[in-house]
Amino acid sequence: MKRGGQQEMAPDIKTMGSALGPRMLIDGREVDYFCGTSYYTLHGDPRVIEAACEATRQYGMGPATLMTSPPLLEVVKRATEFFQTESAQYIISGYLGDMLLAQALSDDYDVVFVDATSHYSVFDGIRSTGKRVIPFCHLDAEDLRQKLQENLKPKQTPLVMSDGVFPVTGAIAPLREYVEVLTPYKDGLLCMDDSHAVGVIGEKGQGSLEHCGIQGKNRYLAGTLSKAFGGLGGIIPGSRELMEKISRNVRIPNGASPPSTAAAAASAMGLKILSEHPEMRTQLWSNVSYMRTGLRRLGISVADSPIPIVSVSALATVDLKQVQQGLKKEDILVAYVPPGGYSDAPDTESLRIAVFSSHTQEQLDRLLDALRKLL
Ligand SMILES: Cc1ncc(COP(=O)(O)O)c(C=O)c1O
Repeated sequence: MKRGGQQEMAPDIKTMGSALGPRMLIDGREVDYFCGTSYYTLHGDPRVIEAACEATRQYGMGPATLMTSPPLLEVVKRATEFFQTESAQYIISGYLGDMLLAQALSDDYDVVFVDATSHYSVFDGIRSTGKRVIPFCHLDAEDLRQKLQENLKPKQTPLVMSDGVFPVTGAIAPLREYVEVLTPYKDGLLCMDDSHAVGVIGEKGQGSLEHCGIQGKNRYLAGTLSKAFGGLGGIIPGSRELMEKISRNVRIPNGASPPSTAAAAASAMGLKILSEHPEMRTQLWSNVSYMRTGLRRLGISVADSPIPIVSVSALATVDLKQVQQGLKKEDILVAYVPPGGYSDAPDTESLRIAVFSSHTQEQLDRLLDALRKLL
């Protein structure tokens, strides 16, 4: 597993001067913002901000353990509706969601098979269970098949875990293939870290399982409300049975404070907005498609995908760091990812362009024009 994180991916870390948006103040300059994970820029939406302020005025910062509050209950209700599950568990961060899921299900599997470039949170989560962990090659269902055959004793049950959408490259895990590979293992489990998938893919925005048409027993996801939904905190939607397993096997909900009132109210509002406005997802896909088509016209090879993370990988003739700096001079911010600079970063340098539903066509064109001049 690669080390590091934010520092390596963004050594020139930036300071906000305004609420997050497609155009915002950063380090004292107004810029077109194409970084991060707020795919609908709901973090800066006035409705989300107002919900956080109003709830904080009414309930203060939070219950300081041992109580719940209407905003916390509202998140669970809205997440349950959004994901069409019986219930949901809301916790302080998406990072801890993988740990919560792996621990909750720990009576149900023996060995964990994990995509080798899964997010740090996946590795930290599965290691906390003390189970054997076998990495398989990135996105490689055939390698998974082989690792299952080589490492499982008769009657042992596997848990397969991976990011649903990878944070740097935007790759979608081949879940239908994983399910096919799991067929001989009757009770085999599949758990997705769906932080970048929830709110984004699937007909109803329910994430990678929905996107790949996978339903039913032993299929789980841990999501976050800190990205597409414009709030903060981890969300694990699921059955009542899963919630019972969480109460039985996991100490996080009892041992850690819940998300703050502001975070809960903002998250509930983000869930409400995205549920009531499916056209925001259509707009996101339209912007993503526009950006990918525009890049291809510049001769840059990019995947054909609905994911708003557009990865431009190493080009023979240009230094991508210089391209990123050139864009910055034009007040356009994209992320430069050094080789191996994040959990799934390629071994060569790349640019990560985050496309938002709120980017205007002028902004998308401005970025494409600037890239054309720099490449
Ligand atoms: C794949 C993945 N999982 C989990 C997380 C952590 O989510 P949160 O920021 O809600 O803690 C991130 C954060 O960027 C991520 O990229």
